Amino acid sequence: MTTKISFQDVVKTFPLKDTAFVALDHVSLDIADREFVTVVGPSGCGKSTLMSMAAGLVAPTEGQVLVDGAPVTGPGPDRGVIFQQYALFPWLTVRHNVEFGLKLAALPAAERKRRTDHAIDLVGLGDFADALPKTLSGGMKQRCAIARAYAVNPQVLLMDEPFGALDALSRVQLQDQLLGTWRQEQRTVLFITHDVDEAVYLASRVVVMAARPGRVHQVLKVDLPYPRTEEIRLSAEFRQIRNEVWHSVYHQPQAASAA
Ligand SMILES: Nc1ncnc2c1ncn2[C@@H]1O[C@H](COP(=O)(O)OP(=O)(O)OP(=O)(O)O)[C@@H](O)[C@H]1O
Ligand SMILES: [Mg+2]
Repeated sequence: MTTKISFQDVVKTFPLKDTAFVALDHVSLDIADREFVTVVGPSGCGKSTLMSMAAGLVAPTEGQVLVDGAPVTGPGPDRGVIFQQYALFPWLTVRHNVEFGLKLAALPAAERKRRTDHAIDLVGLGDFADALPKTLSGGMKQRCAIARAYAVNPQVLLMDEPFGALDALSRVQLQDQLLGTWRQEQRTVLFITHDVDEAVYLASRVVVMAARPGRVHQVLKVDLPYPRTEEIRLSAEFRQIRNEVWHSVYHQPQAASAA
C-alpha cells in the first residue's frame, strides 16, 4: 500500500514568554492512500495543529510532513480542508460559498454548476442554495462548509471535528454519506473528532493522542467491514473496539511533569 500522508518525527513548538510550548512532540504517523483515519484525544493535544500541517497552513518546527512523498509547502487543491470553526464568506450565498473553490480551480461554468449542485444536494441544503449564511442554523452553516470541500473533489480530505456542531440525526446521515463518497471517490481522509463512537464508526484506524506534550498515545485498528451499517454500529464487536478506544482516551497515564 502506498503512503499518502506521512508525518515524520514532527515537532511543533510555539513561543511562550521565555520558553517554548511543545504542542507536538516527535509525532510519526503514516496514512495509506485511500485510508480513513480518525484522530481522538483530549483538548489541546495538538489535533488541529497536526491537521494544519498536512493542510500546509502550519510548518513543523522539526521533522517533516509529506504528501505523495513530497514535503508540504502550502495549501493545494489536492487537499480539501474543513475547519473546526466553519469559515464561510458571510456576503456570499450557500451556492456561491460552495462554488468559491471551483472558481479558483478555473473550471468551466457548466461543470462548476454541476459540482456545486451535487455537493449542496449531498449535504441536504438543496432548498437553501440561495440563502445567506446569517439565515442558516449552525449545523446548516457547517454543512455548507462541508459541501464546499466536497465540491473541489480533492484526493485528500482533512476534517477537523466537522460534525461537532450538528444534531445527532444530521450527524449520522453525514457520517454515512461521507463514508459513501469516500468509498466511491477513493479518497484519503484524516478526520478529527471528540466523539469516540464516531471515530470507530468511520475509521479503519483510530489514532489516540495524549496531551502535554501532544503525542501519539496509541493507534487502534478497527477490524470491522465496510460498508458500515446500523447493524455494525449496534454490534458487540463495535462496542468492544469503542470501549478500547474510550479507555485509551480517558485513562491515559499523566505526563511525568505536568507543564
Ligand atoms: N498559534 C498558536 N500559538 C500558540 N499556541 C498554540 C497555537 N496553536 C495552538 N497552540 C497550542 O497548541 C496546543 C495544541 O492546540 P490544538 O489546537 O492543536 O489542540 P487540539 O487538540 O485541536 O484541541 P481541541 O480538541 O480543543 O480542538 C494547545 O495547547 C494550544 O494552546
Ligand atoms: Mg482542535
